[in-house]
Amino acid sequence: MQPNDHVCLCFGVSLGKIQNYLAREDPKVASLISECLGAGTGCGWCVPYLKDLHAQHQCGIKPTIEGSTEDYKEGRVQFKDTGKRADAEE
Ligand code: FES
Repeated sequence: MQPNDHVCLCFGVSLGKIQNYLAREDPKVASLISECLGAGTGCGWCVPYLKDLHAQHQCGIKPTIEGSTEDYKEGRVQFKDTGKRADAEE
């Protein structure tokens, strides 16, 4: 995923905006990322990714999301249709 790609598709919050927010604000808990333009407060699809970005930041790693933006978007479509994540166990 590239910095201009949207992590929170509900509110159009890009990876770069979240990276900058984490670097600037150093939030103690992942849920505070919601202060970055409402990220994670819509359908909930991006919340596990926001938690992972926060965990990476806490470890001193520049946070990113592996994989293609197309797969990410497709996963959200399936999540909205079924309420399930493709990588979730049954
Ligand atoms: S994609 Fe972030 S809340 Fe829906």
